[in-house]
Amino acid sequence: MGMSTFRTAVVRTPGGPDSIEIIDVPVVEPGPGKVRVEIAAAAINPVDLGVAGGRFHAMGLVNQPEYTGLGWDFAGTVVATGRGVDLAVGTRIAGMVAGFDRDFGTYAEQLVVSAADLAVVPDGLNLVAASTLPLNGLAAAQIVDLLGDAPADDNRLLVTGAAGAVGGFLTPLAQDRGWHVTGLARAEDEEFVRSLGADFTTHAEPGWDAVADGAALQGRGLALVRDGGTFVGVQPSAEPATERGISVHAVVAHPDGPRLGDLLARAASGELPVRVHAVLPLDQVADAHRAVAKGGMRGRYVLKP
Ligand SMILES: NC(=O)c1ccc[n+]([C@@H]2O[C@H](COP(=O)([O-])OP(=O)(O)OC[C@H]3O[C@@H](n4cnc5c(N)ncnc54)[C@H](OP(=O)(O)O)[C@@H]3O)[C@@H](O)[C@H]2O)c1
Repeated sequence: MGMSTFRTAVVRTPGGPDSIEIIDVPVVEPGPGKVRVEIAAAAINPVDLGVAGGRFHAMGLVNQPEYTGLGWDFAGTVVATGRGVDLAVGTRIAGMVAGFDRDFGTYAEQLVVSAADLAVVPDGLNLVAASTLPLNGLAAAQIVDLLGDAPADDNRLLVTGAAGAVGGFLTPLAQDRGWHVTGLARAEDEEFVRSLGADFTTHAEPGWDAVADGAALQGRGLALVRDGGTFVGVQPSAEPATERGISVHAVVAHPDGPRLGDLLARAASGELPVRVHAVLPLDQVADAHRAVAKGGMRGRYVLKP
């Protein structure tokens, strides 16, 4: 054993935190264009609770014969490289893996991924903090792509869940494209949301030019958009139907190494908020999922393999 296997968290029959198992799987060598990463930190995201709870299996999006891997976000160190990769062993990197139907995940000691999906973590950002950015930073940037540049006279954007992970990245990024952002969040999040340069509300009235729905309010979020405005949701498999001439989009976050490099640089300089609630060993993954399920924390739980 030792060198030839590594530990990873999976679900066989998903049934919530108690169904998560840690198993040993064989080490694989990275093929052309790929990198083997020793994972130092893997953030826990809401989607992981959905996978462990069987939500996406029930939707037919997972078809694994034996078990399903958990985790989308990771940060760590390059330990081996395939042909055509110009990253040195020892480089600190971060990234995300996408898609529901896979037998591997980032809740693991190791991962083999495409070098194109990785970004180097800048000095001044630790790997635990860096692991909280890829999925939600890229989702936020890709939501802004769907919103496009704000029209000069119709630039009022409501970000729901502005104090969440997606919302906290989206609020500054949307302002770069000319949007005048108001963040919808809980009363206790006012200082955080205003610190991102946005206006703040705990109760939004309808009539926004655009709504970016980081709180996944779905139909209730769509109802806040003016006639002919824009709605960008975060749940592609459950978007509300369009009404009143509104354009309805949903983000599907995907890996993008160069973009991630830019986002990490902006986190290192303090422009984008990276927030860590707690760090737990991989062995305590079930406890961590139970804690996340209770809700209300600001910042991610991060697993250390
Ligand atoms: N499609 C994609 O590619 C993609 C990628 C990333 C994330 N997502 C999805 O995006 C959503 C957000 O993810 P996240 O990681 O940002 O979650 P998060 O950190 O839990 O943020 C959600 C925020 O919304 C707040 N909220 C919920 N209902 C609210 C309401 N009625 N009024 C004000 N604030 C409210 C929550 O506050 P409380 O904690 O107080 O409830 C929380 O601060 C999730 O559904 C996630 O699965 C999708």
